[in-house]
Amino acid sequence: MAEQKMVNLTIEGRAVSVPEGTTILEAAKTAGILIPHYCYHPGLPVAGVCRMCLVEVEKAPKLAPSCATTVAEGQVVHVHNEKSLDARKGVLEMLLINHPLDCPICDQSGECELQDYTYQEGRDDSRYREPKRFNPAEDFGGDVMYVPNRCILCTRCVRFMDDVAHEPTLNVSERGDRALIGKFEGRDMTHPWAANVVDLCPVGALLSKDFLNKARAWELDRTSSICPNCTQGCNVVMETRENQVVRMRPRPNEYVNAFFMCDWGRLNYRWMNEKSRVEQPMVRSKNGLAATSWEAAITAAARALNGKKVFVAASPMLSNESLFLLTQLMQGGTGAFRVAEGEEAPLPGVPDLALRRERAANVYGAETLGFKKTNDLLGGLGQGDVLVVAGEDLAGIDAGAVSRASDVIVISPVLPESATSASVVLPIANFSEEEGTVTNLRGRVQRFTQARQAPGETRPSWLVLGDLLGAMGKQANFFLPSEVFSRLASSHKSFAGLSYDTIGFKGLPVVDAPQSGPKTPIAVGAA
Ligand code: SF4
Ligand code: SF4
Ligand code: FES
Repeated sequence: MAEQKMVNLTIEGRAVSVPEGTTILEAAKTAGILIPHYCYHPGLPVAGVCRMCLVEVEKAPKLAPSCATTVAEGQVVHVHNEKSLDARKGVLEMLLINHPLDCPICDQSGECELQDYTYQEGRDDSRYREPKRFNPAEDFGGDVMYVPNRCILCTRCVRFMDDVAHEPTLNVSERGDRALIGKFEGRDMTHPWAANVVDLCPVGALLSKDFLNKARAWELDRTSSICPNCTQGCNVVMETRENQVVRMRPRPNEYVNAFFMCDWGRLNYRWMNEKSRVEQPMVRSKNGLAATSWEAAITAAARALNGKKVFVAASPMLSNESLFLLTQLMQGGTGAFRVAEGEEAPLPGVPDLALRRERAANVYGAETLGFKKTNDLLGGLGQGDVLVVAGEDLAGIDAGAVSRASDVIVISPVLPESATSASVVLPIANFSEEEGTVTNLRGRVQRFTQARQAPGETRPSWLVLGDLLGAMGKQANFFLPSEVFSRLASSHKSFAGLSYDTIGFKGLPVVDAPQSGPKTPIAVGAA
């Protein structure tokens, strides 16, 4: 491959060296300088319509829009000098002419780029005394609501639908100070990826109906995670308020999901807040299942499992770490999983990005670790085997199938109806309550972290399984999920050489990942 030509320039007195063709705005980011901008977004084609990114380039006749100007050798760029600041102050003043001062009731407040840049470099007061323009809010369909009074006409939303979703839906209607975003006749925002416009909108003009009035931005706790809802494994930020997951938003990863996530994944978070949980370890006594201590429950489970042939019915939502530990329980037995399916829905503007048919995060990991994918979940359960139900709710499976087992151990966030005959129940955290890794459909191992506190005495699945194996005399206990992962990496060839440190928060492929997966960052948006 031909070597990339580098260009050297100076931005705000700092020497910068970037590949030829880079814009000044992106070059400034490499030096830690944020040039204010509205219409520019790295996942969209450049429009150059807002003029918020104006900077002074020495020897150029006028200020340059840094999002649309590429770097040149020897350029000297000033971002915060008087001339550039003055120009941007003017842009802000113009944008605020018709913008309502409704930050106190706006959902975007606290994460609004108009608020931020006005505070940073806008005027202290307004010179505008006339009444402001008013247009009513409009339901755009899907999860999207439009509040035209707040719109700054950056056209990010229009370009997303045109160039990334490939479904032209939005346009700039009217002209001059009457301009606003309109929908084409017969079109609405029900495209499976349409809600990304809410994240793209730099102000509170496009809002999520689901999140409307649920929380202020500063009340949220944010955690780096992975969307658990299909095998694509989009990188997300999981946001919680008072220990409830209230929103998921995409986290950029050029190897997996660019800047986006689908609506189905985005809105499918309520199950993580589910209330009907098992919250205490339980062991069967004469009077049925009774709450007990963790120590007693682990000892009872170890006794029930030791020396027995075990069949594990696992959930493909479990982490690589937990699935790996489950394989250590089998003792000559086998394991299986089933996965819910739905329609595949690609995002045409981004190669290899789609809401996948298989709706669980770790199908690849489960198969790699030896679990059999099947619709007949308990088909492999032999007469007299011990059945371990791990993370599965056994929905649709009757107690008759379960009764082939000589004993049932449930290691799950919920107690399945058809497994109420269990002799031991070990309550575990769900996806949002623990840390671990999952492997996406291209074999990329990605980390997720704990977003909310697990209820009652519930413990992380890797900790429970580690303690159980310890009680069975199979290994020393683990204190961290990273230790379980190290053990997995040293004992399974696909995971060789990986660790939490090397995986980081962008993930890395397993050694034998399929060749079809993207090897270089994916290109985003239309040419
Ligand atoms: S609705 Fe938002 S994203 Fe669309 S043009 Fe207006 S400000 Fe930009
Ligand atoms: S494509 Fe899959 S992983 Fe990505 S957001 Fe949608 S459901 Fe979640
Ligand atoms: S961000 Fe450069 S013109 Fe809008």
